Amino acid sequence: MIVARSIPEFRKARASLGDLAFVPTMGALHAGHLSLVDVGRRHATQSAVSIFVNPTQFGPHEDFHKYPRPIEADLAMCESAGVDLVFLPGVEDLYPPNEPAIRIEFPSLFSVLDGPRRPGHFAGVCQVVAKLFNIVQPQFACFGEKDFQQLAILSALVRSLDFPLTIVPCPTLRDPDGLAMSSRNRYLSAPQRARGLSISRALFSAQNLVAQGERSAEVLVRTMRQILLEGDPAIPIDLQYAAVVNAVTLQSIDAIATESRALIAMKVGETRLIDNIALIPPASR
Ligand code: PAF
Repeated sequence: MIVARSIPEFRKARASLGDLAFVPTMGALHAGHLSLVDVGRRHATQSAVSIFVNPTQFGPHEDFHKYPRPIEADLAMCESAGVDLVFLPGVEDLYPPNEPAIRIEFPSLFSVLDGPRRPGHFAGVCQVVAKLFNIVQPQFACFGEKDFQQLAILSALVRSLDFPLTIVPCPTLRDPDGLAMSSRNRYLSAPQRARGLSISRALFSAQNLVAQGERSAEVLVRTMRQILLEGDPAIPIDLQYAAVVNAVTLQSIDAIATESRALIAMKVGETRLIDNIALIPPASR
């Protein structure tokens, strides 16, 4: 496995590789990330992972400084997963001082769900991912469905700016209790984790209702909210949204159709958890 710590080093190593599946990450890798590498391997002969905690996608009060950076463990995981090339740039490699500001925006996709709650976040994600695509030059890029709004936005980025690559959406990996895997789960105490499980419970209930024929988004949202709001009152939560949207436009819908998705964001203590699920009406199964 080659570890490149600068853009020139990376470009040199990349030149000797063929078809590449790319998994951009912020490190603190877990089985969910490795599953993206596995999916990528089904599409391309070689794989690259970037590890970069991107400052431009964190708000001033978010956890940029606290974000876990277990770099040696991450490299060992990449090695054991058979990754060919790791890109490990420093902040000044990607953001040299004195470069003029740049901002990519998709107003209709940024103004919903996490967008208003995390101002600047998706612009920062688009900025770093566009740069990484240009540096890495992959044929395929793998993103988890867990960050569904991010996946929809980056799919729009590739379409709109004609990046010559295919986005590969990868299913969310869950722990046996149902919690979607996330690097931030390590912040949760055991009681907080138990409280956070209401998220996957609510999503699976919505999915089951749709499978049984329910089409009303209002009924689904009400059901999810009920499940999310019951639970140990000693654990503080902040339910930010429980929404039913079109999976491509991310706009709220009234009735379930193909490409419908339920999404939830909830803070448990100080940890913000997000999760989502496809809502597939019986006729399209
Ligand atoms: O999903 C993430 O880990 C990040 O948002 C990404 C795509 C690596 C960009 O920094």
